[in-house]
Amino acid sequence: MEKFIIRGGKSLHGDINISGAKNAAVAILPATLLAKDVFTIENVPDIRDISSMLQILEALGADVRYLSKSTIRIDTRNVRSQTVPYDLTKNLRASYYLLGAMLGMYNNAQVAMPGGCNFGGVRPIDLHLKGFSALGALISTDGGVIEAKASRLIGASVYFDKVSVGATINVMLAAVKARGLTILENAAREPHIVDLANFLNLMGANIKGAGTDVIKIEGVGTLHGCDYSIIPDQIEAGTYMVAAAATAGDLMIKNVIPKHLEPITAKLRECGAYVEEFDDAIRVQATGRLHSCNVKTLPHPGFPTDMQPQFTVLLTVCEGMSIVSDSVWDNRFKYVDQLTRMGAQIQIEGRSAIVQGTAQLKGAPVKADDLRAGAAMIIAGLVAKGTTEIEEIVHIDRGYEDVVLKLTAVGADIQRVDVQPPVDVQRIKRA
Ligand code: EPZ
Repeated sequence: MEKFIIRGGKSLHGDINISGAKNAAVAILPATLLAKDVFTIENVPDIRDISSMLQILEALGADVRYLSKSTIRIDTRNVRSQTVPYDLTKNLRASYYLLGAMLGMYNNAQVAMPGGCNFGGVRPIDLHLKGFSALGALISTDGGVIEAKASRLIGASVYFDKVSVGATINVMLAAVKARGLTILENAAREPHIVDLANFLNLMGANIKGAGTDVIKIEGVGTLHGCDYSIIPDQIEAGTYMVAAAATAGDLMIKNVIPKHLEPITAKLRECGAYVEEFDDAIRVQATGRLHSCNVKTLPHPGFPTDMQPQFTVLLTVCEGMSIVSDSVWDNRFKYVDQLTRMGAQIQIEGRSAIVQGTAQLKGAPVKADDLRAGAAMIIAGLVAKGTTEIEEIVHIDRGYEDVVLKLTAVGADIQRVDVQPPVDVQRIKRA
């Protein structure tokens, strides 16, 4: 077990390079199962969720090789299995994409119910299953394993009752080889959905409308391998943008698509930060204390829920009162308990956090409840006076590549250290 130790109070200055998008990569990697061929995929982030996904692909029979730190060659020609057991899915929420991909390829898939990020709320997949059923699949759940099978998937109209990134992606994966036309209505519009559609089209699929709320998929007979480069990670970039603003720093964040960052840029400007957009970089600069603003998370192109905890930390040190509402997830404020231990003044009322800005957070031992909560704790530690120790950083490693290296290079004092077992446990072991 490891933890981060952060000595706060230093402004961040310099350049940070953003890695490939986690939430695009976890959809694109299983999509390789839709062809029996060879793929070269670039800009793959080196994070735990990707190792977990690659491990699953290998277990199914794919040959996976790293050509460099961020380029992977995947050969799916010898994939035989269509079953993914719980010991492989328990650490990866996105393992549910294996259902759509294998159902699309083999008309058959058995995937253990996924584990992964849990920020307190329920994370249903009823809309994914409803979409598979509309295409003609029979769904059953037994012993924690979801089985989806069909004699032949047939294109259909699928209306999502709620905008869901996962359901849009999963049904798209299942539909690319179905017979006829599939229309997804009220589809999610996140950049990673467009990235997956671009990847599938390069494989030979016929998908139109990704990035709008109506996606049309004309089924094709076969798909083939391709070379592809994954888009930069919108949320990793946003996290460093907020870190720059919160520490009154000046960061040039490189390898980004500024358009994907617009909601974050708009809110930072509203708080008084200076944000300048370049072709593939964005500069965030702040001097002194910023001021409050209200934030409401929404599906893309609204403010991303995956930036909500990090932005809330910034607001804890802004002047004035802010209201943060999460309309995507029911209960994404579990991390607030940790922040209040650092001196933040936050009250939760239903799906909103009322944040009263305070001049200074104070370092304290805290834990990362989940991936983005962990990122929020890092920003809090960078801002706080004194030392912050963050435990359970395994969650942060799921989604942030080289976080210590990247932050140290721009002036942060952050270290990764082993957690020693408590003294009395050591004594018991010796006896
Ligand atoms: C994706 O999760 C992301 N994960 C999440 O990022 C992100 O928070 C979320 O989209 C929203 O942007 C990946 O891309 C791997 P949803 P997903 O289906 O697809 C309800 C991170 O930190 N819903 O868009 O699981 C659901 O309860 C992670 O990187 C249903 O009711 O989210 C929620 O309220 C955490 N039924 C809303 O829809 C369903 O079948 C949006 O969920 C599916 C979802």
